[in-house]
Amino acid sequence: MSETSSDDRCPIAILISGRGSNMRALIDACAAPDFPARIVMVLSNKPEAAGLDVARAAGLRAEAIDHRAFGKDRAAHERAVDAMLREAGVELVCLAGYMRLLTPFLTESWAGRMLNIHPSLLPAFPGLHTHERALEAGVKLHGCTVHLVTEVMDDGPILGQAAVPVHAGDTPENLAARVLEQEHRLYPAALRRLLRPETSPSAEDGGSLLVV
Ligand code: GRF
Repeated sequence: MSETSSDDRCPIAILISGRGSNMRALIDACAAPDFPARIVMVLSNKPEAAGLDVARAAGLRAEAIDHRAFGKDRAAHERAVDAMLREAGVELVCLAGYMRLLTPFLTESWAGRMLNIHPSLLPAFPGLHTHERALEAGVKLHGCTVHLVTEVMDDGPILGQAAVPVHAGDTPENLAARVLEQEHRLYPAALRRLLRPETSPSAEDGGSLLVV
């Protein structure tokens, strides 16, 4: 009998710069046979990113294209990233703690096919230090957002959000930990819903504020 490939899972890449805990959550999700994506590579702009070892230990192709080798030429770095993604047959890109400002070259090349996770309830608190800023602002609800990437940083259509309460006495650290736990649930849920809306419930988690 001849072998045929009936793998209709979407080939994705995960782009990281650091520890890669959201990457880990996506790796775990992709291990389920009914998850609609498979990871073809993990790519970092930092060869020393701890997440690369995690990816390799999981048996994944893990690569680095060091942005420092390109000096100030952001576009040249992005061209190298884009070429590697295309050569690997990637169809969708998940940014997961990828700490690079993107130029229109990459955002337009991957328009509608590049996701990001951000640790706030966008449009509140784009940018860095979101947990400190949420505490300073006195918000009572904080959380995380998965959105499609556009040219504007931490902007673009929202695919899902998860909210957590802010407690009296919270520090940026414990608030970050509470949000991160939700990030790990939200990212796979939002990705699944984007790829297979017909098989994903609209509210992924009964009773909690995880909405995709
Ligand atoms: C996460 O908080 C993510 O929302 C933000 O950067 C952090 C990355 O953490 N974009 P990790 O590398 O996924 O652990």
